Amino acid sequence: MSGIARLELDGKVYELDTFVGTEGERSIDISKLRDTTGYITLDDGYGNTGSCRSAITYIDGDAGILRYRGIPIEELAGRSSFVETAWLVIFGKLPTVEDRDRFASLLGESAMIDEVMRKHFNAFPQTAPPMAILSAMINTLSAHDAGATQIDDDESMERAAAVLISKVRTIAAASYKASIGEPLVYPRYDLKYAENFLHMMFSVPYRNYEPSPEVAAALNLFLMLHADHEQNCSTSTVRMVGSSKANLFASCAAGVCALWGPLHGGANVAAVQMLQDIQESGIPVSEFVNKVKNRDAGVKLMGFGHRVYKNFDPRSRILKKSVDDVLNQLEKSDPLLDIARELEDAALNDDYFVERKLYPNVDFYSGILLRAIGIPMEMFTVMFAIGRMPGWIANWKEINENPKSRIYRPRQIYVGPTDVEWEPREER
Ligand code: CMC
Repeated sequence: MSGIARLELDGKVYELDTFVGTEGERSIDISKLRDTTGYITLDDGYGNTGSCRSAITYIDGDAGILRYRGIPIEELAGRSSFVETAWLVIFGKLPTVEDRDRFASLLGESAMIDEVMRKHFNAFPQTAPPMAILSAMINTLSAHDAGATQIDDDESMERAAAVLISKVRTIAAASYKASIGEPLVYPRYDLKYAENFLHMMFSVPYRNYEPSPEVAAALNLFLMLHADHEQNCSTSTVRMVGSSKANLFASCAAGVCALWGPLHGGANVAAVQMLQDIQESGIPVSEFVNKVKNRDAGVKLMGFGHRVYKNFDPRSRILKKSVDDVLNQLEKSDPLLDIARELEDAALNDDYFVERKLYPNVDFYSGILLRAIGIPMEMFTVMFAIGRMPGWIANWKEINENPKSRIYRPRQIYVGPTDVEWEPREER
């Protein structure tokens, strides 16, 4: 279904095509606007700009719906695994048993990183932020495995996806080991995806780490919930870089950099930091909420609010329940969970948050889940990046397989000085 929108400018009426997506989302096609009217649209932060047509992920932010390739996140969270979800997100349908086995083999075979690459870890200072190491090393992969960047058919695409999804986990664990001064641990072919990561994170030469099924399941869930989230900041970055025909690894390394910021993936660290600060300072939750409302020194309720969700983020609902289950199964408790629950209650009953439709997002409870698994805080955003890799790959694939895609190149409205005369150096 499509129609016509009429726009009146300087006394003239222009007709613009409209386009409606498969879920009824409506858009006005402005691709010819500048040519026909001389105007462009202005949309700070792109809140009203559809940058592409995509068949990967659907979000209804008002209803709190998230679907990967049409499948609700709640169904995947209850039944699928990260590897299966990754294949679904990238290749558009649930894998057959044959697809799964082939992809699992590719993941297993791709887990090692080049021996020369292992030496790079020694060159970083021990205090290097893991996200800096991760983005640098993902870029480095294209130097060590140039073949994987040559993608011209389904087979090479699947191999490249497996290389990236598998090696990002090895790089992440290696960067953690380097940061704590322990030897890097080789991956094992016999372990599944989540278990292999936990092995590389926590095994030491004198003792193998054996994760409990509950811990592995919790990690799988965390990764699945982060697998894609349509045109967020890092995914748009990957598409932007990919639109110049930059290779998959370079494009995803750029995604890692975008994810790093505290308003995006870095919010999972900021949220736990905030809960710890509340705990250590001993201030009542109500007082902290007042600080947020009064905008004291830019204090925000981290893990709350979202550009798209104006209702519960369905991922935060799943995580909230899962945190409870995992802590019970592991017979652990976390005082930060009590503070988080109290904060959520206070915010959801406060006019400031209600009027602005601010609800817990994925980052509000995810840090508590990662703490329960034993992941240190400095690795939280890296964990988000491992989880988001399928989404970045799928978006890169979508843009590269579309014969009509053009290089991303937004315009601007210039507001700087006009026609300034150059002054000789001695007269300035
Ligand atoms: N705490 C207090 N006030 C907030 C918050 C918050 N977390 N989020 C938004 N607001 C206020 C904001 O100050 C503004 O108020 P006013 O209209 O009076 O100026 C209003 O709500 C609208 O917010 P906005 O900043 O225009 O919203 P945005 O769509 O530009 O930003 C956001 C979305 C997620 C960056 C923002 O809500 C935020 O900074 N949240 C905290 C950081 C966070 O949790 N980020 C993770 C996002 S989900 C995962 C991901 O994408 O990585």
